[in-house]
Amino acid sequence: MTYVSVRRDDSIWWVGLDRSAKHNALDQAMVDELDAVLAEARREPAILIIHSTTPGIFVAGADIAELRQRGADAALLAINAGLFERLEAHRWPTIALIDGPALGGGCELALACDFRIASSNAVFAQPELSLGILAGAGANWRLPQLVGIGTARRMLYTGARLAAEDALAAGLVDEVAEDLPAHGQALAATIAKRSWRALELTKLALRSRRPATTAFDVTAQALLFDSDDKYGRMTAFLERRS
Ligand code: COA
Repeated sequence: MTYVSVRRDDSIWWVGLDRSAKHNALDQAMVDELDAVLAEARREPAILIIHSTTPGIFVAGADIAELRQRGADAALLAINAGLFERLEAHRWPTIALIDGPALGGGCELALACDFRIASSNAVFAQPELSLGILAGAGANWRLPQLVGIGTARRMLYTGARLAAEDALAAGLVDEVAEDLPAHGQALAATIAKRSWRALELTKLALRSRRPATTAFDVTAQALLFDSDDKYGRMTAFLERRS
């Protein structure tokens, strides 16, 4: 694998994201590699700890260079939304360690995990609307479930950035800690002592809180992916950086 590494410590799997040159932006290769890890991790009890292999970053969203080229057909494939559904459906608990910006799809990746532990470097935001698209990979419903509709509106409509302590106060993260691996390890070790079967069934029980369908988000994204507005806004981001 190129962008994802896995280190197994008994039933605790450390899933490292390693595309630091692009702030771990999720491109198709990373999505495919994460999918391969999820497929493997379903075979026997595994708690997943998702983290960046580079300190100071988490995931700066979906890869905007790829997004810019994607049209309605690609939107209907629900590339990131599908990955996050499979992550959310992982049979045993998952933990995200966030040590930097969790933006757009990066925030949605963290939202799809069972727990989020953040350092003071963490910042959470959903900037999609400034790029002419919507937060189509789960934020529209996972965010209000965690933080309430008021904060979700503020983040989604205005792109407001929540620093770690604000995210903690809002319920977006479970804990703020400086030694993220130690805290992730401690949480995973506590969970790993419990019954795997009962954990799995409890996770399934809690999943009944998700909406029956997420088809609206996928369809709406398909409409937006074909717009000139989106293309222009994404070009502006990419050209500003080059
Ligand atoms: N998609 C593709 N490339 C991205 C990216 C993304 N989501 N986020 C960052 N990058 C790339 C930049 O284009 C730059 O590439 P380059 O070196 O080839 O020019 C590289 O990562 C470093 O980013 P840069 O912006 O120069 O670093 P920074 O430290 O000034 O800022 C961020 C870091 C994360 C705050 C900033 O990159 C950012 O705001 N990213 C986009 C966030 C976003 O809108 N995400 C939502 C997508 S749905």
